[in-house]
Amino acid sequence: MVLLVALLSAAFAHSASAAVASTFTAPAPAPTSQSPFYVGSSNGTIQNSPLVSGQVFDRFIQIWLENTDFSSAQSQTVFQELSKLGITLNQYYALTHTSEPNYIAAVGGDFWGLYNDDFEQIPANMSTVVDLLDEKLISWSEYQENMPEDGYTGYNYTNPQDGYTYYVRKHNPLIIYNSVSQNSTRAARIRNFNDFAVDLGNNSLSQWVFVTPNIRDDGHDTDVAYASEWLNWWLMPLLNDTNFNTERTLILLTFDE
Ligand SMILES: *[C@@H]1O[C@H](CO)[C@@H](O)[C@H](O)[C@H]1NC(C)=O
Ligand SMILES: *[C@@H]1O[C@H](CO)[C@@H](O)[C@H](O)[C@H]1NC(C)=O
Ligand SMILES: *[C@@H]1O[C@H](CO)[C@@H](O)[C@H](O)[C@H]1NC(C)=O
Ligand SMILES: *[C@@H]1O[C@H](CO)[C@@H](O)[C@H](O)[C@H]1NC(C)=O
Ligand SMILES: *[C@@H]1O[C@H](CO)[C@@H](O)[C@H](O)[C@H]1NC(C)=O
Ligand SMILES: *[C@@H]1O[C@H](CO)[C@@H](O)[C@H](O)[C@H]1NC(C)=O
Repeated sequence: MVLLVALLSAAFAHSASAAVASTFTAPAPAPTSQSPFYVGSSNGTIQNSPLVSGQVFDRFIQIWLENTDFSSAQSQTVFQELSKLGITLNQYYALTHTSEPNYIAAVGGDFWGLYNDDFEQIPANMSTVVDLLDEKLISWSEYQENMPEDGYTGYNYTNPQDGYTYYVRKHNPLIIYNSVSQNSTRAARIRNFNDFAVDLGNNSLSQWVFVTPNIRDDGHDTDVAYASEWLNWWLMPLLNDTNFNTERTLILLTFDE
């Protein structure tokens, strides 16, 4: 296992808009459990093509958090623990502000001049990493916390239980590309966290995985202390789960800005 902790800079303040707990509350006993808080039920285990061995690692899992200065992240115990388990990347390679263009570029190699968080749809003739992965029959999937159903294309999703908008399309990189969102086979690989629990339980995580915590758990509407509590609940136990992490898994924990 190699763990890369990239601590990027630049903070932009955003405030919460609805009455929800100010401290992190676990949505389920463990990341392997189903949660009614995620609304969308699981759609069965994902079907993957046979494993294609990599030269150094077989699975790449990236997890994106939001808007935290290097020093703030570094002051959190969980980041100090993670740094000991892997390596700290301390350079800043993000492209721009706002969020959406950085997510767009993470899968498409460019942000196409889209300096905004609007409802964007990138034409189907623009390729992404998915075209490269599909060509080599390397499985891939995204897990979006609080997204209601697989391949959901809406601009956001407000949880009916507490009226808070936890899921936002601007943090879901592949759905913004029509080559993915308008192809039902591909769109079904954009999955929610109840699917994650089932895929993990069946040892069927794909080889390329992109994880977006909800807009509170990623620190965007909260702060890095809150995101750290989410990491302690979600990531830390998964590091010991061989369905998630083995010697052949590369995990990149990073920040959009
Ligand atoms: C891609 O599609 C868009 C929208 O349909 C079109 O405007 C553009 O010319 C196309 N680009 C290429 C390189 O085919
Ligand atoms: C299950 O996947 C199909 C597409 O394959 C999608 O239309 C449907 O909404 C999904 N259901 C859930 C609960 O995610
Ligand atoms: C959610 O989407 C609705 C409809 O597009 C929009 O009016 C609202 O501002 C969005 N809310 C958030 C928090 O993004
Ligand atoms: C949809 O995606 C699948 C998987 O990459 C591909 O085989 C298929 O050709 C795509 N369909 C269209 C209409 O592009
Ligand atoms: C495996 O997947 C099935 C659905 O395909 C699901 O019902 C079952 O709970 C999963 N097993 C685990 C251990 O998560
Ligand atoms: C993971 O395993 C290590 C080594 O056995 C142990 O020290 C650590 O407490 C475990 N972490 C969790 C979150 O279970």
